[in-house]
Amino acid sequence: MFKKIRDDIEAVFARDPAARSKIEVLLCYPGLHALLAHRLAHRLWVRGWRLSARWLSQVSRFLTGIEIHPGAVIGERFFIDHGMGVVIGETAEIGDDVTLYQAVTLGGVSGDPGKRHPTLEDGVIVGAGAAVLGPFTVGRGARIGSNAVVLEAVEANTTVVGVPARVVRRPVPVDWRCFPAYGNEPGAVADPLQSAIERLCKRVDELEDEVTRLRHPPAAAESDDERRVVANLHR
Ligand SMILES: CC(C)(COP(=O)(O)OP(=O)(O)OC[C@H]1O[C@@H](n2cnc3c(N)ncnc32)[C@H](O)[C@@H]1OP(=O)(O)O)[C@@H](O)C(=O)NCCC(=O)NCCS
Repeated sequence: MFKKIRDDIEAVFARDPAARSKIEVLLCYPGLHALLAHRLAHRLWVRGWRLSARWLSQVSRFLTGIEIHPGAVIGERFFIDHGMGVVIGETAEIGDDVTLYQAVTLGGVSGDPGKRHPTLEDGVIVGAGAAVLGPFTVGRGARIGSNAVVLEAVEANTTVVGVPARVVRRPVPVDWRCFPAYGNEPGAVADPLQSAIERLCKRVDELEDEVTRLRHPPAAAESDDERRVVANLHR
């Protein structure tokens, strides 16, 4: 039990660059509070204490803004960042090391009893505001873009975005245990300093080309203005 809580705290610490200490994680992360409440509510649910389980989950929702149905099955080291507006349905199943951002819905599209909500395999990352709707599987290590609406199964290690969600990155062998912050491909979000240097280098190249062109103008295309600039350059 305490090991699980320790692992949950470690998971937040490892995946949120804003987390500064474990005590901060314990005190300030509603995703962690909702998860701890869910672990208790789920125990009550499977023992048949259905009303108490629902009540506890609603108290947790009131305090954290995160609604997890006590019937949902959740694996180890689950992390909900920010959390407000997250809804996880009764028959949702979540593997290990899964990450959700705020306002994610793991919902259903049918009122039939039985499995109505998605299954997220290990290491899945779901961006802010995304809705994953239906009783299908999102494969291990898949990433879902913010605000996507996913209506069908997603292959392992695949990235999908948009409404309805479409594939933007085909399956590539990724180690989903190495958490990429916000689900971005490593290196996809440019370092601002590196970007500035790259822009400067590009500008220098352009200016060098322009000087070369002015020094050696194509005879026919030479205008009076260009001739004057060239004369100045040769002075
Ligand atoms: C989906 C995601 C994981 C993709 O990251 P990535 O693999 O680095 O992909 P890229 O940034 O190279 O984008 C690939 C393509 O998808 C598009 N794209 C990326 N995210 C998108 C989104 N949420 N919605 C629509 N299109 C998106 C890009 O414009 C790009 O399109 P292009 O190929 O036509 O240029 C990432 O963009 C994302 O949405 N992460 C969730 C972030 C989040 O929720 N943050 C909240 C923190 S509080």
